[in-house]
Amino acid sequence: MTTQPVDYIATRERVRAYLDRAFLGLEARPVGESVLYDSVKQKLMESDARLVAHYYVDPQIQQLAEETDGLVADSLEMARFGARTNTRRLIVAGVSFMGETAKILSPTKQVYMPTLEATCSLDVGCPENEFRAFCDSHPDREVVVYANTSAAVKARADWVVTSSIAVDLISALAMDGKKLIWAPDRYLGRYVQKQTGVDMLIWDSACVVHEEFRLHDLDALQSVYPDAGLLVHPESPEEMIDRADAVGSTTQLIDAAARLQNPSFIVATDKGIFYKMQQQVPEKLLIAAPTRGAGGTCQSCAHCPWMAMNRLSGIDRLLDTWPDSCEVLVDEKLAAQAMKPLTRMLKFKAPYAE
Ligand code: 13P
Ligand code: SF4
Repeated sequence: MTTQPVDYIATRERVRAYLDRAFLGLEARPVGESVLYDSVKQKLMESDARLVAHYYVDPQIQQLAEETDGLVADSLEMARFGARTNTRRLIVAGVSFMGETAKILSPTKQVYMPTLEATCSLDVGCPENEFRAFCDSHPDREVVVYANTSAAVKARADWVVTSSIAVDLISALAMDGKKLIWAPDRYLGRYVQKQTGVDMLIWDSACVVHEEFRLHDLDALQSVYPDAGLLVHPESPEEMIDRADAVGSTTQLIDAAARLQNPSFIVATDKGIFYKMQQQVPEKLLIAAPTRGAGGTCQSCAHCPWMAMNRLSGIDRLLDTWPDSCEVLVDEKLAAQAMKPLTRMLKFKAPYAE
């Protein structure tokens, strides 16, 4: 059952307004970026910081993380990396929930992001007050939230999950007979519900990037590439998931590209993933999945507008001045509360980790 706790149109308008404001004043890509790249790389290697980057950021930033002993990963592994790294500072190239999670799990480190404006439509679409009121009105249900939420929303949860463990964890809760609240992504929520049969109320928010993937041109594309497998991130609409050869988190999709025998893949997730996926399968052809054209809040570019805010120039500025305006801080009380469901998430995954 999907609930309508927030006005969906109002949420989209809020996201649109946020994007309009956040993108004002963003500089154009600087000329001579390779000179800048070399200089940033040098400074990073000489600093007491490590760079942890999500698969969706600019390939150049992923490369920088690779070449400086940092990490490129999905949101779960990004969370783990900060806690096991012993540098004084962490630079998180991703979106704000990733920075907050890193800070909560590594409270003694200074955590920075190229810009704190880089948020996520799922986070924006799940305001703390409305979410708390919704949970309070269903006291018989355990609360499971997606990692793509604010620290304040995590603080109200019993469990946090990423897409890589959502089905496993919720199926374990379902077997215990638990009734759940799920927030905020409705597509991932419905997917998990279908896989597990769990009794779950689903918050009504979506990812502005993934919800734009549509079937309408998929048939045409598959007729041109009949041997292509379809890889789908579970934040995508059900019609895409139902046709997929593999559904999973970013890391799971990269693994699937290597595991499945297809010579080519149509990929329904942010196009930033092509950098790492192509490294994994250099001999295979990777094709972006079709989107539906210009949507209400997304231009259907299959690229997250907030991930795109992580720029080399921003990392350069960090390494020069470590400005307070780029340091991630989380209220101590909230951090302590959010730590509980985050720790449960990391422990749940532990038996499967290497
Ligand atoms: P992953 O957990 O698969 O890295 O996904 C994070 C995300 O923001 C997907 O849009
Ligand atoms: Fe959020 Fe979607 Fe961007 Fe991921 S791709 S950070 S879910 S807006």
